[in-house]
Amino acid sequence: MPTSRNSQPDVGGVPAPPTCSFASDNTAGASPEVLAALAAADGPAALAYGADRWTAAVTDAFAERCGQPVDVLLCWGGTGANVVGVAAGLESWEAVLCADTAHLVTDEGGAPARMTGALVLTEPNVDGKLVPEAIEARAAWLGNEHHPQVGVVSISQATELGTVYTPDEIAALADGAHRHGMRLHVDGARLANAVAAHDSDLRAMVVDTGVDIVTWGATKNGGIYGEAVLVLDPSIAGRARFLRKQLGQLPSKMRYIAAQVLALLDDDRWITQAAHANAMAARLADAVAGIDGVEVVRPPEANAVFARLPVDRIDALQDWSFFWDWDRSDGLVRWMTHAATTPDDVDRFAAGVAAIVGR
Ligand SMILES: Cc1ncc(COP(=O)(O)O)c(C=O)c1O
Repeated sequence: MPTSRNSQPDVGGVPAPPTCSFASDNTAGASPEVLAALAAADGPAALAYGADRWTAAVTDAFAERCGQPVDVLLCWGGTGANVVGVAAGLESWEAVLCADTAHLVTDEGGAPARMTGALVLTEPNVDGKLVPEAIEARAAWLGNEHHPQVGVVSISQATELGTVYTPDEIAALADGAHRHGMRLHVDGARLANAVAAHDSDLRAMVVDTGVDIVTWGATKNGGIYGEAVLVLDPSIAGRARFLRKQLGQLPSKMRYIAAQVLALLDDDRWITQAAHANAMAARLADAVAGIDGVEVVRPPEANAVFARLPVDRIDALQDWSFFWDWDRSDGLVRWMTHAATTPDDVDRFAAGVAAIVGR
C-alpha cells in the first residue's frame, strides 16, 4: 500500500494536514495498476460498444467469481448504473423500495425516478439498512391497482451510514422480495468494502444470497470512472442491454472501463484495496476515540467513520483538512478512507482532530 509523508512543519501545535482527503473515497486518485491497464489498453484499434477483448474478459472474470454466467453491463458512472440496474428489474407500472438513507433516493437528483418513471418508495432505515419488515409493509399493497406495486427492492452494500449487511441479512431480504415477486438490487458502490469486511467473496455475498442485480463499484476503490451492472437473473438480462443504451449508459470505447475493472479484479485487488481502506477507518476510529469532545458514533464496519464533534469546532477542522458534514445541527460528520489512505495520513488527521477539537 502507498506511503506518503507530509513534510510541512507543525504550526502552533496543529500538525500539517494529511496529504490525502478524508472527505470521500472518490477523492483518491486511481490505483497504479488501473493506470497501467489503461495505458496497455490504449493504442491498438478495438471494436466499440463492448465488442472488444477487454470487455469479454470482464464478463468471463465476473462469471468465474460468481460461479455462474452473468450478464455484465459496463456503464459510465454510479448513478447511471443504478438507474440501469433498477430499470432492468421493473415493469412500467412498478415501483422501487429502498431505505430512506439510500443514495438512490437522497443523492441521485431523482434520476432513478425520472429515468425509469417509477415511484421510489422509502422505509425508515435501521442503522442505514432496509429490514425485511419494510418489504412486508409494502407487500400489503400488491395486487391492488390503486397502489404502487414494488417490483425492485434496492439496498446499498456497504450502506450510506457505513454499516454492512451480513450475507444472512441479504439472503433474508432476497427471500422476502422473491416471496412477493420482487427483485433485489444491490447498490454496490462500496461492495468491495463490504466483501472485505466479511472476509467474503462476490459469490457468497451476492450469488448465494439470491441477489438479482448488482451495481459493482469501481470508482471509489481505485478506478477512475465506470461501474459494472451485474445481471444475475437471466430472465431480465436481455432487456437490461437495451435499457442501458436508452438510458445513455452504453460507453462506445468500452475497453477503457473494462481495462480498469480487469485491473481491479486481477488478484482480487478490489478486495485487498478495500480491506486496506477498512483497516484505515478502524485505525482512525481508534485514534480519535479518546479525544475529548469526539464521540465515534459506532465502530466502523467498512471505510467510513461517523463522529460527533462540538459544532463550534467543525469549521476550523474543515478549514484545516476538508470533510463533509453529515448533520451539522447534531455535530455529526463523516470521514472516509480509501485505497490510498496511509497510516501516516490517519495519524496526522487524528493529531489535527486532537489539536483543533480536543479540549
Ligand atoms: C451508495 C452510493 N451509491 C452510488 C454512488 C454513485 O454515485 P455517482 O453517480 O456520483 O458515481 C455513490 C457515490 O457517492 C454512493 O455513495
